[in-house]
Amino acid sequence: MARILLTGGAGFIGSHTAVALQGRGHDVVLLDNFSNASRSVPARLKEITGVDYPVHDVDIRDMDAMQRVFATEPYDAVIHFAALKAVGESEENPLHYFDVNVAGTLKLLTAMRHAGVGRIVFSSSATVYGAPEHCPIAESAPLHATNIYGRTKLIMEDMISDLVRTGMLSSAFLLRYFNPVGAHPSGLIGEDPRGVPANLMPYLCQVAARQRDRLTIFGDDYPTPDGTGVRDYLHVMDLAEAHCAAVEKALGTEGTHAVNLGTGTGYSVLELVHAFENATGINIPYQIGPRRPGDAPACYANPALARTMFGWSAKRTLLDMCRDSWHWQSMSVKIPSPINL
Ligand code: NAD
Ligand code: WQD
Repeated sequence: MARILLTGGAGFIGSHTAVALQGRGHDVVLLDNFSNASRSVPARLKEITGVDYPVHDVDIRDMDAMQRVFATEPYDAVIHFAALKAVGESEENPLHYFDVNVAGTLKLLTAMRHAGVGRIVFSSSATVYGAPEHCPIAESAPLHATNIYGRTKLIMEDMISDLVRTGMLSSAFLLRYFNPVGAHPSGLIGEDPRGVPANLMPYLCQVAARQRDRLTIFGDDYPTPDGTGVRDYLHVMDLAEAHCAAVEKALGTEGTHAVNLGTGTGYSVLELVHAFENATGINIPYQIGPRRPGDAPACYANPALARTMFGWSAKRTLLDMCRDSWHWQSMSVKIPSPINL
């Protein structure tokens, strides 16, 4: 059993990971400034697990507060989710993204160094592969940022691996997530984007809930089997379980390890729409629009390393992802938006 600090622990992936870690017997402490999470998340986590998770309402950029967090109790490892993640916004406000993602991570690493915490699992992203030349993508593929958000992930990966190389950290897992979707099967936690969703699954859910008229599919003339973009969708509970496996491995491993987290199977936008219709029985009106600038035709993982490195592979199907996303959406439209609770 380990004591693990989750920065961004009230967010989409952090909250699901908190549930999975608790199920493995670990002590979990959440740190979040609630800039993109509902303050109701800790109570919802208690409803799911029966556990009162300690919460630090702290901004990772606040050095004094971060030092106090680490002075309160010892940690075996940190899982670092806290970040800003909107690609479009990162191009509009690069300084803010460098401040929160890069400077914030620097403060976290400094606080970890002072406290002697040497193990980190970091939320990286498939965005570090830029426009991939080949699929499936292995970890050895060239790295390339196509936007400021991706640039911050590359800088953070470099910072962390340099600290491992120089002995200031003992181990780091750089987890490159592909396309996380779905929600906890209880429907109590899930992804709750503010404003118009930029990502496909949340948009699809809002169309299904009749909050939006129709989905616009961004291009049907890609060199893919049906012409629409292909991605590696991954259930967030599978992703949460991957964090358990990675952090447990990190506790007994040295060095930096970059690892893809995906299913290894690519599905097109149209395949996802049809799977959603099958899973929910709801018709999804859609129209074909122009390509979205910067989108790759296809992006899916070679997930073999996660299996050999820490024995993880995704279990849940595309139908599971659609069903659980919709369950969360339909619960959250019945109650006031969790963001406003
Ligand atoms: P999220 O926004 O739901 O979670 C991030 C959490 O961090 C939020 O709860 C937010 O309030 C918190 N946070 C933001 N700035 C903070 C700060 N300065 N101090 C303290 N807390 C702060 O996002 P998510 O989807 O759960 O993503 C988690 C991580 O995974 C991020 O690093 C993201 O870049 C990465 N990632 C996400 C995806 C995806 O599609 N969701 C894909 C690849 C990588
Ligand atoms: C998926 C597919 C779109 C919306 C993004 C980030 C990436 C990572 C995951 C954090 C594409 C199509 C979408 C819509 C559509 N995040 N689409 N209509 O672009 O693969 O990845 O989220 O690290 O960095 O870039 O995900 O869900 O936006 O798009 O047709 O309204 O759906 O063109 O083919 P993407 P997405």
